[in-house]
Amino acid sequence: MKQAAIIIGASSGLGRALAEAIAHTGTDVIMSARAEQELQILATHLRIRYQIQAEVIPLDLATLTTATAKNYVDQCFQKMPHCSQVYITAGIIDELDKGTEAVDYLPKLMQVNCMGISYVMNACCQWLQNRSANITLISSIAAIRPRGSNIAYSASKIALEYMALGLRHHFAQSPLRIQVYRAGYMETALSRGKKLLFPVAKPERVAHVLIKNRHKDTGLVYVPVFWLPLSWVLQYLPWFIFKKLKF
Ligand SMILES: NC(=O)c1ccc[n+]([C@@H]2O[C@H](COP(=O)([O-])OP(=O)(O)OC[C@H]3O[C@@H](n4cnc5c(N)ncnc54)[C@H](OP(=O)(O)O)[C@@H]3O)[C@@H](O)[C@H]2O)c1
Repeated sequence: MKQAAIIIGASSGLGRALAEAIAHTGTDVIMSARAEQELQILATHLRIRYQIQAEVIPLDLATLTTATAKNYVDQCFQKMPHCSQVYITAGIIDELDKGTEAVDYLPKLMQVNCMGISYVMNACCQWLQNRSANITLISSIAAIRPRGSNIAYSASKIALEYMALGLRHHFAQSPLRIQVYRAGYMETALSRGKKLLFPVAKPERVAHVLIKNRHKDTGLVYVPVFWLPLSWVLQYLPWFIFKKLKF
């Protein structure tokens, strides 16, 4: 049977890599983000290359409410009722997020990275709770342990993780799978120009892992997997050492 996927954040980085990889499997896609023109070009490319249905529904998570999120999700499922895969990769950082400036960026960061995504996720659950389907969210290794850079970013990601994992528990008896990935550094616009202490993964590689695992009832997973032992080290590193790390 023909399958379909919604990808939020498809205009760039991991979301774009996912759209290409999902289309490659013959799955129809609905792609969302703010950059409509970018998405239309990508949709045309996917239609021609993979002979699939590729649609664009623009979305701004920064202005979303529960009502507009429901409208957006209804629109997606009306366009592609056979949709059983949802990937939400959208996310932002802010250069001022270092704890030293006024936190004017905080509402937008929380809205885009956590609240807007949670509204969409909740609305998707209403459509998918009785289907064998996946809702897959991207968190970050920044959520492992709070540190002096990307302070609000890591707070928004840990809040998102708890929203998703709480819903996973709520829908534990349903065939719906809610998955959360703590992604490590990836070679995308988000990390461009940054000095990074650990290896950087190609978004195509991360996309492959997400698609391969979509049928699994996984909770919180690290991608790439080497971040799991590293997360234990970072989490339990004594404070007097951790406070000296700059990353
Ligand atoms: N790159 C890394 O090193 C890294 C590490 C850990 C975790 N992550 C996480 O991985 C995910 C993917 O990141 P990436 O590296 O692929 O970043 P990216 O290349 O910057 O892509 C971010 C995506 O989010 C969308 N987006 C941003 N603001 C939005 C808004 N208000 N409404 C709707 N969509 C919005 C962007 O589209 P528009 O601008 O067109 O709206 C874009 O498609 C993010 O959640 C990020 O936090 C990344």
